[in-house]
Amino acid sequence: MADLALRHKRMGAAIETAVLEQLRSGRYVGGPTVEEAQRQLAKHFGWGFGVGVNSGTDALIYALLALDLPPGSEVIVPAVTFFATAGAVLRAGLVPVVADVRSDLPLLDPRRLPIRAATRAVIAVHLYGEECPLPGIDLPVVDDSAQCAGADPQPRTGQIAAVSFYPTKTLGAAGDGGMVFTDQAAVAERLRRLSHHGMSTPYLHDRVGSQVGANSRLDALQAAVLLAQLPDLPARVTARRRHAQIYDVELPCWVRRLPRSPGHPVHQYVVRVPSRDRLREKLAEAGIETAIYYPIPLSRQPALTGLPHAETPCADAFCAESLAVPVHEGLTGQELERVVATFRSFSL
Ligand SMILES: Cc1ncc(COP(=O)(O)O)c(C=O)c1O
Repeated sequence: MADLALRHKRMGAAIETAVLEQLRSGRYVGGPTVEEAQRQLAKHFGWGFGVGVNSGTDALIYALLALDLPPGSEVIVPAVTFFATAGAVLRAGLVPVVADVRSDLPLLDPRRLPIRAATRAVIAVHLYGEECPLPGIDLPVVDDSAQCAGADPQPRTGQIAAVSFYPTKTLGAAGDGGMVFTDQAAVAERLRRLSHHGMSTPYLHDRVGSQVGANSRLDALQAAVLLAQLPDLPARVTARRRHAQIYDVELPCWVRRLPRSPGHPVHQYVVRVPSRDRLREKLAEAGIETAIYYPIPLSRQPALTGLPHAETPCADAFCAESLAVPVHEGLTGQELERVVATFRSFSL
């Protein structure tokens, strides 16, 4: 599903030079490389300011803390997403309320949001890089843009966005990393203070709104890795789009494709298929790795038991039938052909 060693081999010299320079500089936390990464990544993701944090999960937590919602406020999350979307809500002292997804795409359905008296925000997850529009919504929205690197235009529904640079992302660090984006200088400043122990001047620790700060930073080595990789991002997305187009045309007609908008970055290529688990075994026998994003909807996650949630029939159906096939930029023509041929030889 990803070949990070191959990616490194293609990019090796640029990344190794950047990391060595950073090591030799003696600046490992903060400093000019982190600032440059925040500037360039904010530009790439289409926002005014970026604040680097430890991971995409932390980016969600700090985005929520910056909203400074009253404790116990409810935040709507989609049933189909990585657990971090809901986990971050709980870690921020808030209550995730899981909503069902659309029948055509695993995205929040704006007509069926479980808005209740305690609802204070929504997390719009742009899953696989497909924008989750929420027209007419009158609540703060956090964009979970963890899977959106390379989208053009960037999906954007809210006022603040969280991005992950987990290594398997199309733009990935060599370890954990994340960033929060905003257009407001004052919000960026809140985020900076929240992620630096609420420090306003050295060793003076204030609350940020009602929140206590902690430590979450994108370290300078990861910032150097990201800056070195950024020029390669358009080529990665172009290759992924080309691979997706081949699958669109070549996979058999019983494979249900997901609609994709023109600027989609193809973080994943996901289809819906009958007999999914049997097909997956057949692909594995042919040496083809696949994945399920995500096999269990949030409405059925043990960590969220007892919390309010909507019925999630569309999410249940999606999780039972969806399959992600390899689409990364390192695939060869022969590998793509093998995927297509294995699908074609499968009897339903
Ligand atoms: C949709 C979504 N949200 C949040 C995250 C969390 O990011 P991280 O793994 O960097 O903490 C991920 C990462 O996989 C993700 O895919």
